[in-house]
Amino acid sequence: MEEKETSHRIAASDDVEVSTYLEIARELHGEQLTSEVETISPEVREAIAIIDFGSQYSHLIARRVRECHVYCELFPYDESWERIASLRPKGFILSGGPASVYQAGAPLAPAQLYASRLPILGICYGMQAVVYQLGGQIAPATKHEYGQTVLQTIDKESPLFAGLPSSLLVWMSHGDQVVELPPGFKALAYTENSPAAVIGSDGNIFGLQFHPEVAHTPQGKTIIENFLYRICGCQGTWTPRNFINESIRTIKEQVGDGRVICALSGGVDSAVAATLVHQAIGNQLTCIFVNNGLLRREEPERALNTFRNNLKMNVVYVDASERFLKRLKGITDPEVKRRRIGEEFIKVFEYKAARLGKVDFLAQGTLYPDVIESTAKETKAAAKIKTHHNVGGLPTKMSLTLIEPLRYLFKDEVREVGLALGLPEDMVWRQPFPGPGLAIRIIGEVTQERLEVLRAADWIVMNEIKKANLYRQLWQSFAILTDLRSVGVMGDYRTYGYLIAVRAVTSQNAMTADWARLPYDLLARISNRIVNEVPGVNRVVYDITSKPPSTIEWE
Ligand code: XMP
Repeated sequence: MEEKETSHRIAASDDVEVSTYLEIARELHGEQLTSEVETISPEVREAIAIIDFGSQYSHLIARRVRECHVYCELFPYDESWERIASLRPKGFILSGGPASVYQAGAPLAPAQLYASRLPILGICYGMQAVVYQLGGQIAPATKHEYGQTVLQTIDKESPLFAGLPSSLLVWMSHGDQVVELPPGFKALAYTENSPAAVIGSDGNIFGLQFHPEVAHTPQGKTIIENFLYRICGCQGTWTPRNFINESIRTIKEQVGDGRVICALSGGVDSAVAATLVHQAIGNQLTCIFVNNGLLRREEPERALNTFRNNLKMNVVYVDASERFLKRLKGITDPEVKRRRIGEEFIKVFEYKAARLGKVDFLAQGTLYPDVIESTAKETKAAAKIKTHHNVGGLPTKMSLTLIEPLRYLFKDEVREVGLALGLPEDMVWRQPFPGPGLAIRIIGEVTQERLEVLRAADWIVMNEIKKANLYRQLWQSFAILTDLRSVGVMGDYRTYGYLIAVRAVTSQNAMTADWARLPYDLLARISNRIVNEVPGVNRVVYDITSKPPSTIEWE
């Protein structure tokens, strides 16, 4: 194959002696490599660097690693080596990806990664990149493998397979495959169509042709765990308690005797961020809770009670409902609604913050998926479908330093931390709620009267879902007030009433979602109660579209 001579490649020819990867990396990158690599001292911090080649499962790899109580971060494949090395990883995982190693400009791992001699686990495309970069060969497979297949182990003693049977179900999704292993490598397991479905070097580099991170590989987590614990030597120190202790220490250090403000929304992220900051610096923190009048029934009261009375935090409560309603008068375009709500929020927040005197820091509940998304390469970024105002929507004029204690956490970790901090279960398990609130669940103009109708219907949906013990299993469940009216009959009278839609979805991360198969009896109860208890509503429909092609919210 001619393309094999590409300059990306670390091993320029197959006869290179690959006893040390450092040698090969030097071929391309020269002597300066050594000093950079030596900055890694894995003992200092237990972490794994995941190199992202653009697989739709990369986040899942990170989540699995964290579930094994090992800290990890995801880096785009072309991230600077300095940045990756500053994590001081104990090992690397290379993700899958849509490319083929022989494509022009195919993404490859930084050469220094091999030179570090730290353990490497390549997954799917990640394994192909390892093979290619270290002198083996990849070619299009004669038979593509998609879906579940049986893996048979060859080397039963490999630490990767500790505690596993000799045959297991794995999930494949690849078109290329390994046709020649790099020097020093051997096949550790095979499947019907892949003679080298798992490979290992005589050092500590491994490759899996399948995806251990997905649920369709039932024992995938054990393989990841084996890599982390038995190959990288991790101890599993990433626990909520350790995270809390470390955060409290760093927040104290960062803030000193400065003052911090935080916007509470009633959501779990800002609640956990504020509580963490409060535990670190107590009354140096002031929270501002802006009631925009677009919250669910009883939410402002409940949140206020938790923060003020139970957690004894300083909370400035602002009822700005009327201001928001005025700004939304006559507005029907969803994006204009979002923009006005975002702008109004900033104005109210800045006004209140200015009255607190000198403030130095702003605490925010930004989560890792937001960070990953906002640092994603322009070319990779998805087309903008809706503007979400919860990220980066806060004051720019105030020149405050940001404190984002949850910046590297996934949602499930935030919940664990919330529980460990003593936040009420209700708040910790609250379903996500959009920043613009009920305004984007009212199709057409938002008025006080329409808000009341929606709140009453939404209350019934929530109440019935909770009674049916489904609240936690659903990503979101709520009511929408449409701008449709339809004819009905109540008693002997013709009615012309509002149409309420009910939406309930399951999802892992809101990027995709499926409509929930709620039991008919439950749907019947919800529908009955809404038409009987909410004046003006005479018809209820259930939304049975998934995302895509729909979105979770209606606006
Ligand atoms: P969509 O409707 O885009 O929603 O499928 C995905 C997730 O994002 C939430 N969402 C928002 N959150 N500001 C927010 O803070 C917004 O403008 C916004 N729009 C949608 C939505 O509730 C779902 O969880």
